[in-house]
Amino acid sequence: MDKLSRRDFTRDAISSVLTFSLLETLFENDAFADEVKPLTGKWLAEVNQVARELKDETIKQVIWQEKVEELLSEVPLEELLKLVNFERLTKNLKIKSKSETSLRFNFNKVEGAPARLAFGKQIFALNKGNSVVPHGHNNMVTAFLILKGDLHGRHFDRLKDEPKHLIIKPTIDRKFKPGECSTISDYKDNIHWFEALTDNSFIFNIHVFGLKRPGPRLPTSRVYVDPEGEKLKGGLIRAPRSNFKELSRKYG
Ligand SMILES: [Fe+2]
Repeated sequence: MDKLSRRDFTRDAISSVLTFSLLETLFENDAFADEVKPLTGKWLAEVNQVARELKDETIKQVIWQEKVEELLSEVPLEELLKLVNFERLTKNLKIKSKSETSLRFNFNKVEGAPARLAFGKQIFALNKGNSVVPHGHNNMVTAFLILKGDLHGRHFDRLKDEPKHLIIKPTIDRKFKPGECSTISDYKDNIHWFEALTDNSFIFNIHVFGLKRPGPRLPTSRVYVDPEGEKLKGGLIRAPRSNFKELSRKYG
């Protein structure tokens, strides 16, 4: 009868420890994650191409808005979630209260994907009652696509900058569900504000910086504004300029 020698036992024990840690490593590196389809890689290349065209000024900002809204509407949500490693990214996530939580990530490897990205990206995480507080942008375009949750989205055209106010006009004011998107540019719907109506709401965001805007040169940054302002003729609002802290206190 064979007896399990100490040497054999030790070897087996070591081998199962190795197997276990190897498995753990593989899981952490998503070796077993569903593969992203090459079609999604092609989609990412198209998103990159329109960002490149915008930077090269071969298309205008409003055309980028149209094209990106089309692209964001056609990507299957489950594919996009795989592309951003959503499960791993949001595992053990603590969403800040009274603020937006910004998540940074790398796209999953996929055939056909661009080697260098011409656009920036992040994911916002919000619990019920939290907002990406109202703000506009200078010299850039951005797009929001709802990944999870229901949100109340509002956009405003930014008609005029005054020293302490912006003259704005409401353009979009509706509920957004997963798969729905909106965009901003220096020319159209420049101010956005998204309030989460459900816990664990996630917004996929892409942006392209360094663009030319109409009017005077301004720093590339968020322009915080409180849309609750003096009502003017024609549905316009004289909205006071504000800051992140103030708006977070007021709108969460
Ligand atoms: Fe923004």
